Amino acid sequence: QKDGYKHFMLKEIFEQPKVIRDCLTGRIQKGRVVLPELDALDIPGRLTIVACGTSYHAGLWAKYLLESWARIPVQVEIASEFRYRDSVFLPGDLVLTISQSGETADTQAAIRIAREAGAPILGLCNVVGSSIARESDSVVYTQAGPEISVASTKAMCSQMVLLLLMTLSWGVRKGVLQGDILERCLHDLPLLPDQLEAELPTIREKAKTLSQGYADARSFFFLGRGLNFPLALEGALKLKEISYIHAEGYAAGEMKHGPIALVDQHFPTFAMALGDELLQKVASNLQEVQARGGRIIALVNPGAAPAVEDPWVLPDMWGPLKSFLVLPAVQLFAYEMAVYLGKDVDQPRNLAKSVTVE
Ligand code: F6R
Repeated sequence: QKDGYKHFMLKEIFEQPKVIRDCLTGRIQKGRVVLPELDALDIPGRLTIVACGTSYHAGLWAKYLLESWARIPVQVEIASEFRYRDSVFLPGDLVLTISQSGETADTQAAIRIAREAGAPILGLCNVVGSSIARESDSVVYTQAGPEISVASTKAMCSQMVLLLLMTLSWGVRKGVLQGDILERCLHDLPLLPDQLEAELPTIREKAKTLSQGYADARSFFFLGRGLNFPLALEGALKLKEISYIHAEGYAAGEMKHGPIALVDQHFPTFAMALGDELLQKVASNLQEVQARGGRIIALVNPGAAPAVEDPWVLPDMWGPLKSFLVLPAVQLFAYEMAVYLGKDVDQPRNLAKSVTVE
């Protein structure tokens, strides 16, 4: 069932345009976001997102949007920490659990804690009827289809689409979302699947060339700011788990607080330096890396690129939609690196698809 792809991971990365299409089907109608799953719940006064691994990164990504566009205070928690902490719940809290499998033990435990505290629970799950879906008060399904590869790819894409739609829905209900943002988003989102589909082969080719050029590296930094910070974390996670190259994701502005001490010509950096309002800040962080001899791959947009050794140009997209090209770029970089190094892409050592034990 690999449909001619060499690995499930590659197939699932290339399924992302279809995943976005499916996530949007029926959910944008007449200039409105339709998410009946949210209607039964009050607009959260505060949102606590609980998840693990890649799903946690999707939650971190959404925090930027939920705070800015829906003006909802958001905390994003690693489930294994949340479950053993003595968290403070407030009236109006909503707990949102994100899980592809719906069976992750730590995330399930968080549901029980929220339940005991009397907080309503919303699940964002891929597997229909899974434990987390059953235990939540309301469930939004990501409809990404079965994910076979241990490394999660298309599930994160689907989570991001749904989290974006949730943000729009709550922002409108609260009356705080600016009309031009809503209009632009609802206009551009349906165009995204075809744009991504057209770009994926080029992204893959570039990923292949670059991964081979950097295959001797034993460590990588992944750097980004804003929405690109969670994607930097995700890029580092993907590279670690399937190619076994040590990688650290950092908020670019944190480098000077310690990690930059590690940079030399053998410790390259993979940066997200897209044409957004934080570009100049990222560019100056990259100059600091270059001053220490560090090689840099940077995802950039046309015309706005800082001078780095290996610019990787992605077409410009509006606002947060840029992330839907950054995500496959880091996924395919890790994929091509693992293939080049001869690793078992779909079944990396020491990992299970569903982490049902603590
Ligand atoms: C990374 C990966 C894991 C999962 C994590 C949570 O590629 O697959 O980090 O994201 O185990 O799993 P779910 O989303 O099923 O709760």
